[in-house]
Amino acid sequence: MSYRVPFVDPREHYRRLKKEIDSVLTDTLSRGDLVLRSQLREFEQNLANFVGTKHAVGVGSGYHALHFSLLAAGIGAGDEVITVGHTFVATVSAIVHAGARPVLVEVGSDFNMNPAALEAAITSRTKAILPVHLNGRVCPMDSIQRIAEKHNLAIIEDAAQALGATYRGKKAGSFGLAGCFSFYPFKALGGLGDGGALTTDDPQVARIVTLLRYNGEDRQTGEYHYHGYTALLDNVQAAVLDVKLRHLPDWIEHRRQIAELYRKGLEGIEQLSLPHFQGTEYFDSFQNYVVRTTQRDALREFLKSSGVETLVHWPKPMWEHKGLALQDPGLSETQRICKEVLSLPMSAETAPEQVAIVVESIREFFERQPASVLRTAALNLSGPR
Ligand SMILES: Cc1ncc(COP(=O)(O)O)c(C=O)c1O
Repeated sequence: MSYRVPFVDPREHYRRLKKEIDSVLTDTLSRGDLVLRSQLREFEQNLANFVGTKHAVGVGSGYHALHFSLLAAGIGAGDEVITVGHTFVATVSAIVHAGARPVLVEVGSDFNMNPAALEAAITSRTKAILPVHLNGRVCPMDSIQRIAEKHNLAIIEDAAQALGATYRGKKAGSFGLAGCFSFYPFKALGGLGDGGALTTDDPQVARIVTLLRYNGEDRQTGEYHYHGYTALLDNVQAAVLDVKLRHLPDWIEHRRQIAELYRKGLEGIEQLSLPHFQGTEYFDSFQNYVVRTTQRDALREFLKSSGVETLVHWPKPMWEHKGLALQDPGLSETQRICKEVLSLPMSAETAPEQVAIVVESIREFFERQPASVLRTAALNLSGPR
């Protein structure tokens, strides 16, 4: 089905950048620069400069950045890693594949790790904390860093959704031992297919991950130092990502303006929570614009019939997927979030006129609801969180 307002618009994205992308692709391909060449090194350097770390290492996906960071931090069998229950499954799979046990804790009203829940979950087996900067908002890193120092724990940041977001002027991915990014095509910095990178100030972490991403091999000496993986960030991808990285600050500014238009258009609807959280120390990059309502499924259907595409991240908690064999951690807020969240169209291409259509459709939906339904929905939304 074609939408009046698509969630994202990859064709329009390419149309706007066609000249720059085609030129860099032609250049890279005609040189035959396909694997581990200068374009990758330059992108890594520019990414490290952007995030404010000494090193960046490109890998095959955000998942690989997480997995390799954990391995580089020495996490393995018998260890526990604390992360949140409300995240993309790859965060948790990376912990499982590193051989450790994921311990899932509750999030706050901004969808990010709740420091009190984190501290309560620490045991003698805890080795690392994996905060997830969800939707383009950085976690409260001063509290998390204090807890990590007190208990001598490594921090690996899942910054897959937060490239360019800051907390107290510091960028996501520059707080912990390593920051992990995803270049999945619909991320704020999206590639031609999946890709990822990790950022770090630690030269040893950068070296280990550089070995792990290419079968454990030191390319200078030919020595295999580990049983590694085949998980490179392709050189052509790096060349294209480097072009896009130059546009990223403008795109983030655009996302923030779109978020502000949503705020102006939607505030005052009692049954709807908007993602404008308190705290002047945060600079949100709005990877996603996530609203909350107890009427979520009906609203989503209504928006679909009005030609507005939305997404739900994620419709059920990951521990309800039997194949993942995760224990139910009893996170009632996370459970509730799964039933209430709705991500509205948001990208560098989303236009103010499209926001107006979304706003009008949402207002129409709530105006059509019988008063009794609205009262119950508002009561439920403002209940304990
Ligand atoms: C929060 C979070 N963590 C990890 C990932 C994994 O990234 P990738 O899809 O590149 O493996 C994603 C990507 O969707 C994500 O949103």
